Amino acid sequence: MGGRGIAVVTGGGKGIGAAVCHRLAADGYRILLTYHTSSQAAEKVVKQICSDGGDAFAVRVDCSDPSEVYVLADHPWIRTATGGPVEVLVINHGRYDRMATDELTTEHLQRTMDTNFTGAFHVWKALAPHLTRDARIVVVGSQLGIRGSPHGGDYSASKAALHVWARSLAQAVGPKGQRVNILAPGYIDTAILEDDSSERRALREGEVPLRRIGTPEDMAGVVSFLVSDDSAYVNGAIIHANGGLYLP
Ligand SMILES: NC(=O)c1ccc[n+]([C@@H]2O[C@H](COP(=O)([O-])OP(=O)(O)OC[C@H]3O[C@@H](n4cnc5c(N)ncnc54)[C@H](OP(=O)(O)O)[C@@H]3O)[C@@H](O)[C@H]2O)c1
Repeated sequence: MGGRGIAVVTGGGKGIGAAVCHRLAADGYRILLTYHTSSQAAEKVVKQICSDGGDAFAVRVDCSDPSEVYVLADHPWIRTATGGPVEVLVINHGRYDRMATDELTTEHLQRTMDTNFTGAFHVWKALAPHLTRDARIVVVGSQLGIRGSPHGGDYSASKAALHVWARSLAQAVGPKGQRVNILAPGYIDTAILEDDSSERRALREGEVPLRRIGTPEDMAGVVSFLVSDDSAYVNGAIIHANGGLYLP
């Protein structure tokens, strides 16, 4: 384990976020992860990282509620260090309710935007004063933020907003030495796909040139690269990690 700083991962209790936590802990970071409803899963991630010799802590935060998000910046790991100890921020949380785009309600659209887009903005805003001068920020977007979807117009719009905001941020904070990049996953094996029938899953696999659904670990590897010095000249990029499913 290296003596690295803190990596904050939102939605780090399960799926892609959990894999990112494990990977960044193995890379030597202390992990401050957030969860919303999956407290047991989050505690399991913390326990595993600690028993592997790392350091991790889980905090419950509803990222759609600004008053909860700003409490994150009050966490002792962050509050007690001077100068801002957060080296890495991975804004990963997100909701996808798979609702027919032509049946969307205003309330539903608002809820998705509040979580996926405005929530991401608040996470960054709350932690911005605590980021190191060379902080690396990774935002988890989606291929649907570019392609759109007939069953997720709200989700796609929220991710499109997230992409453009993150690219704007990359241009704004780049001169300070901070980098912001976007991971746009394709089909990844997490709770988002758990309702798929075996036929639907086979169809998805057939659509992907690599002929498989991605794993959370596939995504964690990309995040690890994006926060490392190996990507020192990558800023404002959208990394399409989708097995070749969608090639913009
Ligand atoms: N899986 C895919 O195929 C795929 C494709 C493209 C993009 N993505 C993106 O990848 C990211 C991770 O998703 P996943 O695939 O790993 O699915 P997941 O296992 O369902 O994870 C979603 C995460 O978001 C958190 N979350 C949801 N609403 C929240 C809220 N209001 N406040 C705080 N946290 C909240 C969840 O926390 P709790 O469980 O604690 O409530 C959970 O940790 C998401 O941004 C998703 O849009 C996934």
